[in-house]
Amino acid sequence: MEHLKAIILAAGEGTRMKSKKPKVLHEIMKKSMLDYVMDTAKGCGAQAICVVIGHQAEAVREAAARQDVVFAVQTERKGTGHAVKMAGDFIEDDKDILILYGDTPLITAKTLKSVIAEHREAQNSVTVVSAVVQDPTGYGRIIRNVDGQFVKSVEHKDASEEEKAVREINTGIYVFHGRDLKQALGRLKNDNAQGEYYLPDCLEILLRDGKRVGAYIAADEREFFGVNSRVQLAEAAAILKERINRRHMENGVTIVDPMHTYIGADVTIGRDTVLLPGCVLEGNTMIGEDCQIGPNSRLTDMHLGDGVTFQSSTGLESTIGSGTTVGPFAYIRPNCRIGEKVKIGDFVEVKNSNIGNGTKIPHLSYVGDTDAGEKINFGCGSIMVNYDGEKKHRTTIADHVFVGCNVNLVAPVNIAQGAYIAAGSTITKDVPEDVLAVARARQTVIKGWKTKRVQKKS
Ligand code: UD1
Ligand code: CA
Repeated sequence: MEHLKAIILAAGEGTRMKSKKPKVLHEIMKKSMLDYVMDTAKGCGAQAICVVIGHQAEAVREAAARQDVVFAVQTERKGTGHAVKMAGDFIEDDKDILILYGDTPLITAKTLKSVIAEHREAQNSVTVVSAVVQDPTGYGRIIRNVDGQFVKSVEHKDASEEEKAVREINTGIYVFHGRDLKQALGRLKNDNAQGEYYLPDCLEILLRDGKRVGAYIAADEREFFGVNSRVQLAEAAAILKERINRRHMENGVTIVDPMHTYIGADVTIGRDTVLLPGCVLEGNTMIGEDCQIGPNSRLTDMHLGDGVTFQSSTGLESTIGSGTTVGPFAYIRPNCRIGEKVKIGDFVEVKNSNIGNGTKIPHLSYVGDTDAGEKINFGCGSIMVNYDGEKKHRTTIADHVFVGCNVNLVAPVNIAQGAYIAAGSTITKDVPEDVLAVARARQTVIKGWKTKRVQKKS
């Protein structure tokens, strides 16, 4: 969509959140409401975004600055019209200006695209998005004449009883022609119930100037759900969850229990992957095809190849190659690169490590700060001793090494290709190729010990 810019209003206080944090930074599935709105603005073609900040401006600025946006500051909350006016320099005469709210995260690019298309086709000066709702209390109402044409948008507090009965509401989303918006903003007055400069009054102003004003009735009112409290945050999360789960199922993912499956908006999942109950998939997690995830697993910023089994485990900021199995009860901590056909078994923790293809760590191990090659076998209870009380050190293990049960490898230490480490060894020096390293007390047997003991007792 050429010539589109977006203004996102995010200066309000959000007192009902009862939070130290600005309202628009509250998160749904690890992503702030403002991030959802900014992504949607980009998704419908906005070439530039201006966020109007005010309450806790610096916190919002810092969080939003990760995206390519500019800011306008509204130091006093004098209404939505005043807020848009603060972004006056951003408004260009020959551009369409999309107005969005930072606390309305469920709006979709698909809906906005069709609003913009209709706005352009009808050559409107402004198009307001409306919705017909069950309970319009609190919202601005869209008033139409007998022919169904738009007349004005009146705030709840300024509405007559007759107007209050109208169930078509102003969603607060608009597309304005830039020049017209600027002109209308300059003429706003605050002679109303709240003493505020209302953005919706621009519609009436433009209409009186003989401009075309359209009201686009959106099909799904849930897209305009605004979040003012923690209860509403959870309600928005539930709507989003249902929408996201549905999209993945339509794309060929099996979700056994959608009620208890939580998938972040930016997560991708390949076909024929099965999600068992109790999965939480967050951030930029990418899952391949034919995987089996869960039950009860959490993946944050994880990249999984195809055919991975990830059972009852947690994985953070790491990659896992195709055909690998993880869990149950494994913990993959950040910065691991785990190869293909690897086995990470029960009660295994892996951190900041590279694990080569075909390596097996089947049970009860800690593998931290380790570079492990291919086809290594880690015996039950093997521990990479990476911390000397002051610093962390790395362990290097070449291909085809056999690490016996209950072995400590005290880092920094290197184990060369094909070496065997005897069970129970505590290895503190490098181990060369082709050897059996034993580092434990030799076994002794005391002959006749038991008979002597029995004699002593009697
Ligand atoms: C607004 C609309 C109403 C509409 C409703 C939809 C006005 C006057 N009314 O009402 O017609 O039905 O949204 O949700 O526009 N904001 C600022 N600075 C301000 C005031 C508000 O940045 O000075 C921001 C808020 O942070 C919020 C958004 O604008 O994100 C909407 O403000 P809010 O006070 O919630 O407007 P409503 O009373 O809900
Ligand atoms: Ca509101």
